[in-house]
Amino acid sequence: MSLPDELAIPLAREWSRLAPLITDAHWVQTTESTMNLVQAMAGGSREGVLIVADEQIAGRGRRGRVWSSPPGAGLYFSVLLRPPVSPLSQTNPSVVGLLTLAAGTGVTDGVVASTGLQTQLKWPNDVLVGRSKLAGILAEGVAVGTSEQAVVLGVGVNVSAAAYPSEIAMRATSLETELGRAVDRGEVLAQTLVGIAHWYRALLEARYDEVLRAWREAAPSAVGTTVEWTTPQGRRTGVTAGIDDSGALLVRTASGIERLIAGEVTWTL
Ligand code: BTN
Repeated sequence: MSLPDELAIPLAREWSRLAPLITDAHWVQTTESTMNLVQAMAGGSREGVLIVADEQIAGRGRRGRVWSSPPGAGLYFSVLLRPPVSPLSQTNPSVVGLLTLAAGTGVTDGVVASTGLQTQLKWPNDVLVGRSKLAGILAEGVAVGTSEQAVVLGVGVNVSAAAYPSEIAMRATSLETELGRAVDRGEVLAQTLVGIAHWYRALLEARYDEVLRAWREAAPSAVGTTVEWTTPQGRRTGVTAGIDDSGALLVRTASGIERLIAGEVTWTL
């Protein structure tokens, strides 16, 4: 289905700035998760297929969490990407390794461009206002045959307070809650995609240092914040010391600098 005018008109205005991130846009009224819909298209579609939903009944976040997605209360979308496959390296920057960070930077740019609201990033993928979560990013790899690789990039932005259940109200916020006024969902969608497209192009052109610099500027808590995380040996604690060039979080501990790639980090801001 094609997008409703509310979203299609602002998107059409910015269309020339969206390649190669977006080449094709679709709309669904309701679905389990836009991640599933885009994943199902990974075998036969080219890069840049965008699916936006008005409602998700099984929206998901990182680590199997639920992403609450009631009708009309947020932006819920996923995009099919076919980033180049770089030689496996844990420490070098790569398009896939920095994709979540680049997308987060794009969301912060898009939110400020469309609404004036300043947000911060929290490693690896949270978009915050103060300590409350406004938006989240999810990147899932899809194996297509043996040699091809695709990534489904999903973004959820809380537009009104109805986007999150009251039990997480302390940890979540929305554009309308922060701004105290109605916002134009189409403008937020268009500018968020412009922002992500800008930083995706930077990755494809191997301008990794620009992406890392922009992410670091938008993520003050990546330096000097006390964090805890779990290892097979038990709970560890340390103080954030920035990210390295591959996007891993560095944490200063009593026994030296640790490098965190995945896993759950608790921020004790
Ligand atoms: C997170 O912060 O844990 C990531 C949240 C990602 C939510 C978006 S909403 C659109 C897309 N569809 C989903 O089911 N999840 C992502």
